[in-house]
Amino acid sequence: LNQPAPRGLSLIELRRLAVRALAEVISGGKTIDDAILFVSTKNSGRTLAVFDRSWIMEITSGVLRYRGRIDFIIDTYALKKKPSGPLRRYLQTAVYQLLTSDSIEPALVVSETVHAIRENEGEPPSKFANAILRKIAEQRSHWRSWKVSESTPEAERIAWSSLPGWLYKNLVKQKGLEWTHAFAQACLERPRTWYRKLPAAPETGAGETIELTEGYQGDEPRGYVQDIANQELVDDVVKLLGQRFSSAQQPKILDLCAAPGGKSMGLAAAGFPVIATDYDENRLQKVIENRNRLGFKHIETKAYNEITMLADRYDVIWIDAPCSSTGILRRHPEVRWNREAEQIKKWVETQGKLVEWAREHLKDQGILIYSTCSVLSVENRANIEGFEPLQVFERAPQDFPHGDGIYAWIGTRS
Ligand SMILES: C[S@@+](CC[C@H](N)C(=O)[O-])C[C@H]1O[C@@H](n2cnc3c(N)ncnc32)[C@H](O)[C@@H]1O
Repeated sequence: LNQPAPRGLSLIELRRLAVRALAEVISGGKTIDDAILFVSTKNSGRTLAVFDRSWIMEITSGVLRYRGRIDFIIDTYALKKKPSGPLRRYLQTAVYQLLTSDSIEPALVVSETVHAIRENEGEPPSKFANAILRKIAEQRSHWRSWKVSESTPEAERIAWSSLPGWLYKNLVKQKGLEWTHAFAQACLERPRTWYRKLPAAPETGAGETIELTEGYQGDEPRGYVQDIANQELVDDVVKLLGQRFSSAQQPKILDLCAAPGGKSMGLAAAGFPVIATDYDENRLQKVIENRNRLGFKHIETKAYNEITMLADRYDVIWIDAPCSSTGILRRHPEVRWNREAEQIKKWVETQGKLVEWAREHLKDQGILIYSTCSVLSVENRANIEGFEPLQVFERAPQDFPHGDGIYAWIGTRS
């Protein structure tokens, strides 16, 4: 029962750490990476073995993606008293495995979890957990195939979407029920990792998109991790700029929200010179590191003040704006639970200021690229009124080949 994990902690100990990491995210507001770092350093200061870290990551991120569904199932059985605190989190880890894993025997998931609860929380909660988990295990095929439809009560649809209510309602209003359910379903999937593989020598081509599959053992090719939707956007922008500016006429391009540098690297790989800045100095260091690693001499980084205090004008300004990140729930599963509807206003305000700044600093007929990883129209379309559109780029996580939700608007100052 208490099998030792390969080269590391027992599964009981791993589950305890996953439960702790979940608390750090849900109640402590930490990111998943910070929470896992926190539990691993609490773990007697030892670094976790690779297997242990990926087990905790898989369970923690899975619970965060499926949390709405998992809690709905738990509460369907826990009629008298709703479990809370660590007990609920232990149950969540087990229900996640019961819902999604075919490689572990349901009975083993139940017994391991009950054992961990007995050791860490005591006998009575373990008995409660045993009763509930056995029922869920028995009926897991029912839950695995459960579907919602238009006639399902809204509260159940929200729970099954595993999105916070404010986001679900907002998306239904904006895009309709079918889109929202497809979006929610896509956001339950494990994220895929995409890489921009560049030619070995700098300035010899824009490179190609490859997927990094788990356990990728190849050589580290020259390049960088970037979601496929973002890579497609950069390719579109490169094409458009290529049509607009001849090679003799090097445009003056500013990447205003550049860190860690994905957009700048893409433009530079296609041969465009870029001035990159970011309001966060520490994050701007990442742009410098990436630029140096990839050998892009034509990316110039400048301090934010230096840019914003000067009355310079640019041919192209790219605002890859800070936003709610509602398009990247798969890669950052904690985002859906630590955002509030009220926070959106703050982002919209910043986005509006950035666009206004760009309006004043673009040359006549200069090009604005405004992009976010948000699926909310208030952060997207609504922000760029008064500019002439040249191209609108929109990807949702449910669109083939399943990358992030990205919105971009490319247009000229009118
Ligand atoms: C979505 S990220 C940019 C990602 C980057 N363009 C890339 O492709 O790797 C948004 C960035 O905007 C920066 N930021 C936030 N508020 C800002 C502001 N008022 N002015 C400029 N940058 C800001 C953040 O520090 C963050 O690095």
